[in-house]
Amino acid sequence: MDRPTFYVTTPIYYPSANLHIGHAYCTTATDTLARFKKLMGYDVYFLTGLDEHGLKIERSAQKAGVTPQAFVDKIAEDTRALWKLMNVEYDDFIRTTEERHEKVVQKIFQKLYDQGDIYKSEYEGWYCTPCESFWTETQLVDGKCPDCGRPVEHAKEECYFLRLSKYADRLIQYINEHPDFIQPQSRVNEMMQNFLLPGLEDLCVSRTTFDWGIRVPFDPKHVVYVWVDALSNYITALGYLSEDDSLFRKYWPADVHIVGKEIVRFHTIVWPIILMALGLPLPKKVFGHGWLKIDGAKMGKSLGNVVDPVALCERYGVDAVRYYLMREMPFGSDGNFTNESLLNRINSDLANDLGNLISRTVAMIEKYFGGEVRPMGEKTALDEELIALANSIAPKLEGLMDQMQFSNALTEIWKLIAECNRYIDQTQPWVLGRTEEGKERLATVLYTLAECARMIAVFVGPFMPGTPKRIYEQLGVEDEELMTWASARDCISLATSRRCSRASTWPRRCSPWRS
Ligand code: MSP
Repeated sequence: MDRPTFYVTTPIYYPSANLHIGHAYCTTATDTLARFKKLMGYDVYFLTGLDEHGLKIERSAQKAGVTPQAFVDKIAEDTRALWKLMNVEYDDFIRTTEERHEKVVQKIFQKLYDQGDIYKSEYEGWYCTPCESFWTETQLVDGKCPDCGRPVEHAKEECYFLRLSKYADRLIQYINEHPDFIQPQSRVNEMMQNFLLPGLEDLCVSRTTFDWGIRVPFDPKHVVYVWVDALSNYITALGYLSEDDSLFRKYWPADVHIVGKEIVRFHTIVWPIILMALGLPLPKKVFGHGWLKIDGAKMGKSLGNVVDPVALCERYGVDAVRYYLMREMPFGSDGNFTNESLLNRINSDLANDLGNLISRTVAMIEKYFGGEVRPMGEKTALDEELIALANSIAPKLEGLMDQMQFSNALTEIWKLIAECNRYIDQTQPWVLGRTEEGKERLATVLYTLAECARMIAVFVGPFMPGTPKRIYEQLGVEDEELMTWASARDCISLATSRRCSRASTWPRRCSPWRS
């Protein structure tokens, strides 16, 4: 039987500078979800990439004294290296300067023009270059961009417009009938109140004031406005309107576009209308996550407060950084990035809670049974209780991950870790180990702990992809069957014993002074 498919995307980032921890935040979340769904047996397709056209890139390249292409090539290389470092397992990396993308964007533009959904007129208003967004006088806040607060430029030029107004009622109806389409729920009201209900104006979809873009095929003085170019990546990468469109037929519509809250507007208004005009189904969900802030301000190159993910990963380890990003704040909300909170998470959650559980368990198995995990004997109420908790985790995670509640999912796993540590204190293995009779009971206690630790390894895998292997190695788990999602739904009673390897202290505590 065919496995169910799951198509998930990140935004395609602007390569106007190297990516920072804010971009890594979104990509880590997407990778975590993709890995989770894969583990559950879905046929997953995970797309990421770069949005390489536009005035901002043209200007950055100019400043650096290189061609725009050379400029983005270098950042594309660094971005791929960053995702490799961060253990991000994408299926495709699309760049909007690739021919496979450019050709299809031209076809899309032509098609919309031919059917009357794009028409030529004149634009007069305000333009925010960093956001690549048009604004009317009334939308400005104190004369500045309402999204980022930066100065806007006056723009008056001939341009092509997309008839958003024609589709507005259909879109409103769609959103009302599909309560899951825009997530979290608070963003629905934002879109309705601020944009849809006041009435949609047609959107300018071409520019004549810069060159670095895809030419409008029937009017080469114009380049395609970046948002139509960028949004199309989600279908051009799958081969839409190209010779081989098998991926498109297999994976479209997307199960979820994961995007930052500032671009929810483009993904829930402009993109659905382009798709409606093309006669294509809409993505099932658009999730607008919050911002990672520094001292309460959004991170950004122009503010000079960016945190470099490469330096963080090299210093603290990839899994620790990924864990922190997913645990520290609920995915829909903003949160503050601080070194203190990162160190706290590493020391308390990873080293103390998880690290201690594994190393204590393995050390006791070594000490009392020469490294042999013995089969489970008769269970007491205490064992049953812990096992029941362990068995309840998988279904909870499935629900939470569907709602992209990464932080709550980790909280559930850490409840189990805390209970395991408490179970050690309650059962007192060091007392049991003193007598032969006690040792019989101890075999069951240590088996229960080893089994819970194995399940924990499966649970944390999507968040911290390097961690399960380390836990399996220490516990002596080699059978791949014991690393599957199905095997983590139930505490398993193995009849034969297996050998643990040596206990090690891991993950290590970090101090701000360790270099
Ligand atoms: N190129 C457009 C997206 C086109 S998608 C069809 C763009 N690029 S961007 O480089 O500005 O990246 C924006 C995305 O990066 C945000 O939507 C968000 O997912 C992520 N983030 C950038 N800075 C961030 C934070 N400080 N915090 C959290 N996410 C951040 O917009």
